[in-house]
Amino acid sequence: MIIIGIETSCDETAASIVIDGSEILSSVVSSQVDVHHKYGGVVPELASRKHIEDIVPIVKEAVCKAGINFKQINALAVTQGPGLIGSLIIGFSFAKSFAYTLGIPWIGVNHLEGHINSVFLESNPPAFPFVSLLASGGHTSIYYVKSHTEMELMGQTRDDAAGEAFDKVSKAIGFGYPGGVVIDRLAKKGNPSKIVFPRAYLDKSGFDFSFSGLKTAVNRYIQTHGDEYKDQTPDILAGFQESVVDVLSYKVLNAAMKMGCDRISLVGGVAANSRLRERVIKDAERKGIKVHIPSIDLCGDNAAMIAATGYHYLKNGKSSDINDDVYSRIKI
Ligand code: KG4
Ligand code: ZN
Repeated sequence: MIIIGIETSCDETAASIVIDGSEILSSVVSSQVDVHHKYGGVVPELASRKHIEDIVPIVKEAVCKAGINFKQINALAVTQGPGLIGSLIIGFSFAKSFAYTLGIPWIGVNHLEGHINSVFLESNPPAFPFVSLLASGGHTSIYYVKSHTEMELMGQTRDDAAGEAFDKVSKAIGFGYPGGVVIDRLAKKGNPSKIVFPRAYLDKSGFDFSFSGLKTAVNRYIQTHGDEYKDQTPDILAGFQESVVDVLSYKVLNAAMKMGCDRISLVGGVAANSRLRERVIKDAERKGIKVHIPSIDLCGDNAAMIAATGYHYLKNGKSSDINDDVYSRIKI
């Protein structure tokens, strides 16, 4: 089954052609970072307008790069939520009319299920069941994954998401939006043990997270050290990143042990973090747990993961209806 995936939930316009939910023929992602960077975060109205400009060329490019024509597309999958409502509406409305014009079935997909299914676009995906840590700009959650379409929420953040903490710390230090990549790079030059920030484990046996206290601790450090903090930037960032990584690694491995699972996955934009990848692999090895992490391109928002997820719903006979609508809030 050749599926076209479409993703516009936040600040990336993406389209992808995927065969049978696992083989990527093309995956095109147009980032809006340049539009939002100077504002220190995503401006929803600007995001919607940019999606309107980009959706048609990006879809054409994905089809062209896949070396197919429109008539060869068998079905369509599109992000239905959660995300920015205006951004979602652009992709969803386009998808409805595109599927209608082509006369093909289509399905609205949960963006979070998309991230969880991103590991199935890599070789040697995990067998079910497994535990997944989804860490992105909007969510930080641990799921017990039973199938491509069945996931049980074990815990989630009570305030900021991990990626949001990276973005807010980056903004406070003057690097703007998004913060993950720049902090990842600069933290490599710092000493993670020099400035130690708090670790919010909350209930150590539970799986909920909290990152707003850490963000506040970094802000306070910057404020109390005046301009002298600038020379310490790599150490501050390394200390901050180590605090996030310690908690994420501890909780996801604890969740796997609680569920008696010897395999986990890390997905979402923050799974691109080099220190997190390195630490979780090392910690998991000691416990005999295998770690599955998608390649960097598939960690951030993309449409291949949406096509991959849609495939499993469509294969099970599910499809969406012209009256279906987007949703902004979490559904799994
Ligand atoms: O999954 P994603 O592309 O979009 C959402 O669904 O939110 O995640 C974006 C988030 C941003 O907060 C960004 O700063 C973070 O992922 N991120 C990273 C890295 N690359 C992206 N965080 C830490 N280290 C990275 N290398
Ligand atoms: Zn995402």
